[in-house]
Amino acid sequence: MDAIDRLLAEHSQHRRLVAELEAALGRPSVHEVGWNDCAGCDFKRFKEIHRELRERVLDHERREELLLKEALELLEGGADAGRMLEKRHGGVNDLLRLLASVAELYDGSHLHPLRTVVARVREELDSHHEFEEKELFPRLRRDLRPGDMERLARRYEEAAAEGR
Ligand SMILES: [Fe+2]
Ligand SMILES: [Fe+2]
Repeated sequence: MDAIDRLLAEHSQHRRLVAELEAALGRPSVHEVGWNDCAGCDFKRFKEIHRELRERVLDHERREELLLKEALELLEGGADAGRMLEKRHGGVNDLLRLLASVAELYDGSHLHPLRTVVARVREELDSHHEFEEKELFPRLRRDLRPGDMERLARRYEEAAAEGR
């Protein structure tokens, strides 16, 4: 498993956590209260998953920026892609922060704002994963030399061991 495989496995964890986040809110009823329906909501579970998702995403982004910015500098136009990566991470982080603020305001009966922000988190993460999985990672696999990929793998292990 190389460093990119490890990052891809982390993306799968993020997708699983977003699905769990949605499940914790329960399905909105098509009758009466619709998106504000709280009948199936487990808010305590929602907060636990949100915390885990936020920690894992921040941890992943830190490692990704550390590893990929260095790797991208070896490629033509790679510095721009590195800046784009940081900007996109900022967008994801802003939404996760917004979700925390909206969760603070939850009054036990109005789920609509929470459902709306969770849907935006899903969209933003999906779009970010698509950018990395379809553009960024394939480019690194194609253009980096084998020695660079091995160095990347070692850096991943070091960063993970140091909790970075
Ligand atoms: Fe990623
Ligand atoms: Fe990322």
